[in-house]
Amino acid sequence: MPPKTSVHGSWSSRWAFILAATGSAVGLGNIWKFPYITGENGGGAFVIVYLICVALIGIPIMMSEIMLGRRGRQSPVNTMHTLAIESGHHPAWKYLGIMGVMAGFLILSYYSVIAGWALEYLTKASSGDFTRQTPDGIKTLFSNFIDDPKHLMLWHTIFMVMTFLVVARGVRGGLELAVKLLMPALLVILLVLVGYSMNTTGFGAAVEYLFTPDFSALSWGAVLTAMGHAFFTLSLGMGAIMVYGSYLPRDASIAKTTFIIAFADTAVALLAGLAIFPLVFSNSLEAGSGPGLIFLTLPLAFGQMPYGTLFGALFFLLLAFAAWTSAISLLEPAVTWLVENRNIKRVTATMIAGTFTWLVGILTVFSFQKDSPIIFSFNFGGVKKENGFFDVLDILTANIMLPIGGILIAVFAGWIMSREASRDELEMGEGNAYKTWRVITRYIAPALVSIVILQLFGLLDPIFTLFAPIIDLLSNRP
Ligand code: PFF
Repeated sequence: MPPKTSVHGSWSSRWAFILAATGSAVGLGNIWKFPYITGENGGGAFVIVYLICVALIGIPIMMSEIMLGRRGRQSPVNTMHTLAIESGHHPAWKYLGIMGVMAGFLILSYYSVIAGWALEYLTKASSGDFTRQTPDGIKTLFSNFIDDPKHLMLWHTIFMVMTFLVVARGVRGGLELAVKLLMPALLVILLVLVGYSMNTTGFGAAVEYLFTPDFSALSWGAVLTAMGHAFFTLSLGMGAIMVYGSYLPRDASIAKTTFIIAFADTAVALLAGLAIFPLVFSNSLEAGSGPGLIFLTLPLAFGQMPYGTLFGALFFLLLAFAAWTSAISLLEPAVTWLVENRNIKRVTATMIAGTFTWLVGILTVFSFQKDSPIIFSFNFGGVKKENGFFDVLDILTANIMLPIGGILIAVFAGWIMSREASRDELEMGEGNAYKTWRVITRYIAPALVSIVILQLFGLLDPIFTLFAPIIDLLSNRP
């Protein structure tokens, strides 16, 4: 039998959970990654696929993940173990939890390095380094910075220490306190920035770019990236939301809380797009410039606008806050697992998990150097690219590990857990809402995710060749 409450603590209310889960969801994914992958994949059509993935795959899987967490009340590894045994299945399901813990390590290892960029740019912006810079000047600033491992290491270390300080203090005194202070600040900063961008000349172009789809420009690689991003941005598929769910009071409605979290996360991503793209277009900058997008384009805009030092500093502060409240959720599954299985104190567990992540992060630190020794060359979604360690980690985690974790969570919630158990836990009765959740979780979400992953490895090519004439007809291609 699973325990009635988690040994690690509990949220003080349903709202504390919503804030914490939104804090986990809203992060670098919304403010740094969403704009640059939208830019790389051509805008509107990509945004629509991403929104469909959030609604059709993300929301039902988030409900499943919270449900499993609240029922198991332990680290993802032990939750999966206990629930599998409870429903008369093999305890090997715990490996799903272990894969989640690994994904958390890997994501946090590079996440912390990028969060370090935000911290560096916070200091650069506040000391007026961007004022009246030329595009070349900004480029040099950025490439000198990412080419300097010592500097990157310093910020990576500082960010990991910040994460450690929160996680070590526990659920209420650390995680909950941090999100209560940081999330309102984040919302205010974001709204101020959108307000500013609305008054720039590029606002109309940005709205058009984000919301006018051109499906003929959409590749399979883009569909996969959009789906992977839905998992990444909602923090799904690796147990972060599961562990947060394990601290959730019994009386909270899982469906309602999920909708609020998914809505807030999507709203922040779109608002971030509406804050960033107007500045890109007003200054005739390049939307498709990759992971450096906000670090290359925005400083230029901040350097020229009135009060640019203030807005620039605010923006990078926003980015750092958002990253911080997500990083704590990336570390939490590993920490709870160590506490439960190794019988050690939370502080020690946080220290061990944090140090390990910090060490793995060093590989990312070195992957941005001009002559980086670690280069992988592989074929991704039909495009052959030279990739550094960072790209490999990003693709491995966001596009492979999280979606696979997500399917398995859906399969567990839909097929392994009994109908009575999931109905009890979701408290939706036998009505249409419950039936819809069950059909999506059992069939639709696993099927969609599998199709996209199989296509990543080119396994569906023969089928697409067969259907090519119909697809061309539908998309109006000659
Ligand atoms: N959702 C976070 C973001 O959008 O930046 C990243 C993340 C956090 C992914 C926690 C996965 C996770 F478990």
